[in-house]
Amino acid sequence: MDKRYFSDILVKWYEQNRRDLPWRETKDPYKIWLSEIILQQTRVIQGLPYYLRFVDRFPDILALAAASEQEVLRLWQGLGYYTRARNLHQCAKEVVNIHHGIFPGSFQSLRALRGIGDYTAAAVASFAFTEKVAVVDGNVFRVLSRVFGIDKEINTPEGKRVFTQLANELLSTKNPDLHNQAIMEFGALQCLPRSPDCSQCILVRDCFAAKNEMQHQFPLKKKAKAARKRYFYYFVIRKGKSLLMKKREEKDIWQGLFDFFLLEKTSPIGIDRIIGQMNSITEVKIQSDSAEISPLYKHTLSHQIIYSRFIMVQEHPENMLKEPFAFYSVKKIGSLPKPVLISRFLSDYHLL
Ligand code: ADE
Ligand code: SF4
Repeated sequence: MDKRYFSDILVKWYEQNRRDLPWRETKDPYKIWLSEIILQQTRVIQGLPYYLRFVDRFPDILALAAASEQEVLRLWQGLGYYTRARNLHQCAKEVVNIHHGIFPGSFQSLRALRGIGDYTAAAVASFAFTEKVAVVDGNVFRVLSRVFGIDKEINTPEGKRVFTQLANELLSTKNPDLHNQAIMEFGALQCLPRSPDCSQCILVRDCFAAKNEMQHQFPLKKKAKAARKRYFYYFVIRKGKSLLMKKREEKDIWQGLFDFFLLEKTSPIGIDRIIGQMNSITEVKIQSDSAEISPLYKHTLSHQIIYSRFIMVQEHPENMLKEPFAFYSVKKIGSLPKPVLISRFLSDYHLL
């Protein structure tokens, strides 16, 4: 297929089918960057309210850089992948401190900033600065693999290289910004992962996958490793309307978020045994028959499955844990940044 034809037809399709989204109405690199970080691994419907709240609270990069990390994490809560939120905040500080608050205007210089990979650098460079550099995200992999019958695995370095090269060869010189928006929107609305709408598709006559009825074979992907299973036993120590919590500092999931005292196991263990371990490891003395045990919670992350129980006990002079644990009122807990698993538990037990 002719390259010009591919780009022209996609852009024409885009102009007739595009959704009106707030970050498409601006050339402000701050807002474009913010939207792209929020939309990574997040669908537009889910990300949109977060984008609006962030722009409202932090109208420019200076405001975001000046915020506390806790406030940024709190506003991010529910989106998951909290490293993204911490990197977002760090990146804002870098732009303010190193670049005087002005976003650098090229793919290469954007790529050097915290949390900005190839995809985000290409998106900001093309959307905000009209640089001729192709975005390659999940939508682009899917559309290109199907239309051109590319049988490379998308999650390998070679696959990434091949798709990136093809995407750049196809990219319109005149309208790289529109072309990039168009191919992503086409993947999001027309060439869907499970149910591509081929009978109504402008490319159906040229599309390799449609011609060969192989839509569902593309894109190819190398099988991911099985998710790691983790077993979390949380001890929720209550004093009136307060709960004992602490901030997670370790280099692990949920860094910077608040949770309870945790014993982690690599396989499931009985409640009496885990309480016995708690009593021998810490100063805390818990009677099994006075503890309330939650049902099992299953919480799925991208590469981990967490099975969790919450063991609730009333505070007793002996049930004290030293710093960094502290009692937080239920009201205060509402405004702390917390993992979704913890919010689910608090909400189920009417503590939120
Ligand atoms: N997903 C990632 N970036 C996007 C954008 N600019 N518009 C719509 N969805 C997106
Ligand atoms: Fe995607 Fe089907 Fe269109 Fe090919 S014909 S680009 S598989 S929607």
